[in-house]
Amino acid sequence: MTLPAPRPDADEPKPAPAPGDGRHLLSIADLGAEGIEEVLRVSDAFVEVARRPIPKVPALRGRTVVTLFAEESTRTRFSFETAAKRLSADVLSFGVASSSLKKGESLRDTVETVAAMGVDAFVIRHPSAGAPAQVARWVDASVINAGDGWHEHPTQALLDCYTIRQVLAERSGRRVADVGVQDFAGLRVAIVGDVAHSRVARSGVLALAALGAEITLVAPGSLLPPSLEGWPVSATSHDLDSVLPTVDVCYLLRLQTERGAGSFLPTLREYTAGYGLTARRAGLLADGALVMHPGPMNRGVEIADEVADLPRSLVLRQVANGVAVRMAVLFLLLGQVVGGDAAGAVAGLSPGFGAVDG
Ligand code: CP
Repeated sequence: MTLPAPRPDADEPKPAPAPGDGRHLLSIADLGAEGIEEVLRVSDAFVEVARRPIPKVPALRGRTVVTLFAEESTRTRFSFETAAKRLSADVLSFGVASSSLKKGESLRDTVETVAAMGVDAFVIRHPSAGAPAQVARWVDASVINAGDGWHEHPTQALLDCYTIRQVLAERSGRRVADVGVQDFAGLRVAIVGDVAHSRVARSGVLALAALGAEITLVAPGSLLPPSLEGWPVSATSHDLDSVLPTVDVCYLLRLQTERGAGSFLPTLREYTAGYGLTARRAGLLADGALVMHPGPMNRGVEIADEVADLPRSLVLRQVANGVAVRMAVLFLLLGQVVGGDAAGAVAGLSPGFGAVDG
């Protein structure tokens, strides 16, 4: 017996995925305003699922989702794993410290090895910008960027937009489903702090700007990006006190000392004096203004203890909404959506295993 010659391109990575091809979520730019709105609408259905006695649907039964986190995480990792389990997917959690990466295996060999076991989606956090996009060229599975270096954290931006939309609905006495992208037009958002090192800021700016919000970056010059090309913001400021009374949302960023932010500042105390949301500064906010933070918070640095726990602080609501938003992302990438009606498909799902399995 003669084995056929191997294909000449067998080892070649696939071309880079086309933005918005619907197979991956690597950047907010993959979605645009329409894509963001679709995720928000499908998330409504999963918020409803979360209120059911059994908050679980069989939408991804038989599918396998791998979470590969090469950097620390609490929120994003548990949120994706909870989301995948509530969709009835099988979930494999990949711990770098206990994997063959630790023995020197390359990222490519590792993900191709895991993919060979039959994987439908990789959820990847990695300290290097572009790592999830690179993985998308090596495997046939969908790839979701769960935070790559200083680059992007798209699902954080989506859950933040969802949370703002939810509050806009409550404030106006409308159903959340009746709040669309038009309601973000002219929303004034200050993004405050370590913008230069922040993937949350980049994805947040792209998402909020796509929906029509007006964004002001507030930071010391050393923590702003060297160039604002590709940052669709209305303004930058070094004066937080003057910006706070003008905004609807004050979005605080974590000072990312692990990425060297500390070396761009004289001292943490001076940073807090200029840019921390202290109790005094929170008093400068308009009555209805919201305070948001992606977590983990450095209490006493970018946000005062008492401000983090104010009713206007949405920090835990952001976390709660993250599960529904990540269910929506997984469902849109992996679920069977007939006729393009994703929200209708979710609404039609049976509530939990009992009803499905009889
Ligand atoms: N917001 C966020 O990405 O938090 P984790 O690092 O805990 O996932």
